[in-house]
Amino acid sequence: MINDLWYKNALIYCINVESFMDTNGDGCGDFEGLMRRLDYLAGLGVTCIWLLPFYPSPRRDDGYDITDYYGVDPRYGTSGDFVEFMNQARERGIRVIVDLVINHTSIDHPWFRHARSDPKSKYRDWYVWSKKRPRNWNKGMVFPGVQKSTWSWDSEARAYYFHRFYDFQPDLNTMNPDVRAEIKRIIGYWLELGVSGFRVDALPFVISEKGPHTGSPPPQDFEFLRELRLFLQWRQGDAVFLAEANVLPDQDLEYFGDNDDRVQLMFNFFVNQNLFYALASGDVRPLTNALKKTRQRPITAQWAHFLRNNDELDLGRLTEEQRRCVFEAFGPDKKMQLYGRGIRRRLAPMLNDDRRRLEVANSLMFTLPGTPVIRYGDEIGMGDDLRLQERQCARTPMQWSTEPHAGFTTAEKPVLPVIDEPIYGFQRVNAADQKRDPESLLNWTERMIRARKECPEIGWGEWKTLATGSPHVIAIRYDWRDNAFIAVHNLDSKPHRIRIDVASSGRTSLINLLSSDHSEGGDDGVHRLAIEGYGYRWYRVGGLDYILNRRRS
Ligand code: NOJ
Ligand code: CA
Repeated sequence: MINDLWYKNALIYCINVESFMDTNGDGCGDFEGLMRRLDYLAGLGVTCIWLLPFYPSPRRDDGYDITDYYGVDPRYGTSGDFVEFMNQARERGIRVIVDLVINHTSIDHPWFRHARSDPKSKYRDWYVWSKKRPRNWNKGMVFPGVQKSTWSWDSEARAYYFHRFYDFQPDLNTMNPDVRAEIKRIIGYWLELGVSGFRVDALPFVISEKGPHTGSPPPQDFEFLRELRLFLQWRQGDAVFLAEANVLPDQDLEYFGDNDDRVQLMFNFFVNQNLFYALASGDVRPLTNALKKTRQRPITAQWAHFLRNNDELDLGRLTEEQRRCVFEAFGPDKKMQLYGRGIRRRLAPMLNDDRRRLEVANSLMFTLPGTPVIRYGDEIGMGDDLRLQERQCARTPMQWSTEPHAGFTTAEKPVLPVIDEPIYGFQRVNAADQKRDPESLLNWTERMIRARKECPEIGWGEWKTLATGSPHVIAIRYDWRDNAFIAVHNLDSKPHRIRIDVASSGRTSLINLLSSDHSEGGDDGVHRLAIEGYGYRWYRVGGLDYILNRRRS
């Protein structure tokens, strides 16, 4: 049975259809374009695509403001194109998960239009209202600095409505049984079209009590989450929820549940922030701590690890001093920062396009206990355009080639400007050139993905950190069935000598999976290794024949 948990050894790749590939020359990416790039994704080793919202939307928040849950925005194609895309992805063995944005709708959604214009409409109670301005009207904003309140006056309804996010995203009243039934219909609909699950947007807010008099923090209804999960599984046995929930470690188990009855996957925001602190400071100890704090989870559950995503790099969970350190290293300029808590840049510019650092960061992410998630463009080291508003700066079109607009579109004006400057511009950073260069970041990434998939210990195994004797070097050991794997990463610019104890007694060699530089170790089972600045090693424990894993995975 357990072999059916496909997500344990998956490689997830996050795509915004709008900025991936345009085929009809209107400047906007589309499903047809995505289909033409499926071979590229298959070649890279992607096993699961996560599609950002592609539903009809005025796109004031990049599609996280939906006007119809049961369709495809005509700019990207038709439902027919979507089904065709699903079929082509399946032919290549690639699964698809889609964003489930059910905390709020667009203010232009017909449900909200009915709700605001007719107090007797059945949709009135689908949203969250207050006749008087609630005491906490300007508390709890998710986008501080840009978003001014969480309650806004609607002159048509003659009432205040609640919006956890921007004022054009009224919150759905997720306590209403009709809304809950509708959410299940949405889940059921996309499952019928063949998706393997959902990235659940803003999950903590979806299950929170909403209203003018709720406590702070508001009580949460995890029973509702269980209900959704049961529904999901009844409809499709192998479908998953991947939760976006930036919560503290002591809440993790509430989301995972203890009986495989809530979400299977969650982004590990806590580790993500500590990982960036480690990259900035060279000190891996807080990262090790974060891994330990998030260790506990049910056996079927899994962390999703990532470097960057479609939003800002949120540093809100670090200490003041740690945050200052990351800001200084990766976003010293005010214009690189966002919402007082994060950095809005892409990975490559944060790391100064330093190949050694890009490699060590990605290699570390690939070897964390969980499933890796890559953001489109990071495999070629794309940059950002800080002239664009808020998080838009890191959502520019994919850079395919040296053709005009990076081969993304033949239109004069792409949906967002393609990056065109000396370092990160498409003339220098593009997939076509990198395909031809065996040493490119793209081909390196492809090799690492392949290696990662050949080490199912990482996704499946038991893990522990090994003492290295250095605060700059982290070593994680995985054991699963007959295999053991050890990843070593030095986050300091200087070389370090470390010792790791592999076996409690006797000699056990370490086979380097990425080069021929193996380590025999001493008779005491201790390996004394010299790791260059930003160096990394992937070892399998055992003789040379352990290069290939010993058991079917
Ligand atoms: C999280 C998404 O990643 C973000 O882009 C969006 O603005 C909010 N949820 C609201 O839907
Ligand atoms: Ca198009």
